[in-house]
Amino acid sequence: MNARLAALGGASMQALSKRFFHFLAGSAAVKRIASRYGMRRSDSFARRFIAGESLEEAIVAAGRLEAMGLRLTLDQLGESVTSLSAAAAATRTWLDSIPRIVAAGITRNISLKLTQLGIDVDREAARDNLRRILDAARAGDFFVRIDMENSPYVDVTLDTWEQVWREGYRNVGVVLQSALRRSEADMRRVVALGGRIRLVKGAYNEPDDVAYQLKADVDAAFERMARVLLAEGNFPAIGTHDPHMLETVKTLVAQQHIARDRFEFQLLYGVRRDLQTQLKNDGYGVRIYVPFGREWFPYFMRRLGERPANVMFVMKGILGEK
Ligand code: FDA
Repeated sequence: MNARLAALGGASMQALSKRFFHFLAGSAAVKRIASRYGMRRSDSFARRFIAGESLEEAIVAAGRLEAMGLRLTLDQLGESVTSLSAAAAATRTWLDSIPRIVAAGITRNISLKLTQLGIDVDREAARDNLRRILDAARAGDFFVRIDMENSPYVDVTLDTWEQVWREGYRNVGVVLQSALRRSEADMRRVVALGGRIRLVKGAYNEPDDVAYQLKADVDAAFERMARVLLAEGNFPAIGTHDPHMLETVKTLVAQQHIARDRFEFQLLYGVRRDLQTQLKNDGYGVRIYVPFGREWFPYFMRRLGERPANVMFVMKGILGEK
């Protein structure tokens, strides 16, 4: 009973924290302060989680990670564009970045969001934008991961992925969130087609009818999904910083004799750097998600919502800067 109450308390704190930071993410004043102080110096607080505002800065960070034996995926931040011209601009920026990543000689792996390509404005135009990026990526031997956004976007994201997959694009994968009640069925759909999945818990504040509210339930779904993906998935990515989940997956891998080149762990830039190197030193494939770009505010707020302790780190940074 006490454990259940504690779990409920913990869950509601976590949900509250997510809700609070999603609320703050909509505040123009908070955005103004964060934008002014977050990235302006080399030790500014947002740099802990964002590799820089330019591709050049991201390439430097990526080079450092690769020198440590870590793999990476680059995310040019941006989401929720509201016009076709903004979607076209985001697509152009991706198309410009691809040859520059090739020239830099770093890993050819990128992550993007469909709302960045205009899925809210015009579905077909966004799909065309995606195809243009996939064509350039295929020519350059890149892998493209379509991040998963909040629950209203799950259908359109999976449908878009399936459409390009059926058109013959194989350099593209998706993300599923164990927090969503529907994700195990979605996983079956993607696995049946042979698609590549990154499994995460889910960063968004979601209502009870679509998402588990208790961490224990999110974790249990994560474990069930990891079990299926490790056995049947196409090079699944296990995306978590949760030491308990990582141990669970390592145990599954050992019990099921899964070869280490059949899957990889993925972690976010600046989060649990100790675990990133530890996993790599233990002989696992580890990919770091490296976000960069001027549109870092919503991404940054999601990271704070996951771990309120990060707020103290940010406050110290702001006070230090002032
Ligand atoms: P959980 O939140 O349960 O926390 C467990 C422990 O991990 C904490 O106690 C702490 O030690 C550590 N930790 C977690 N987050 C931290 C933080 N921000 N700062 C410091 N420590 C932290 N989500 C999504 O909805 N769509 C997506 O496409 C993606 N993509 C994605 C890619 C990759 C590579 C990763 C690792 C994650 C994502 N996510 C995501 C985010 C994901 O859904 C989830 O919000 C975070 O990974 C936090 O959940 P954890 O599983 O890490 O653990």
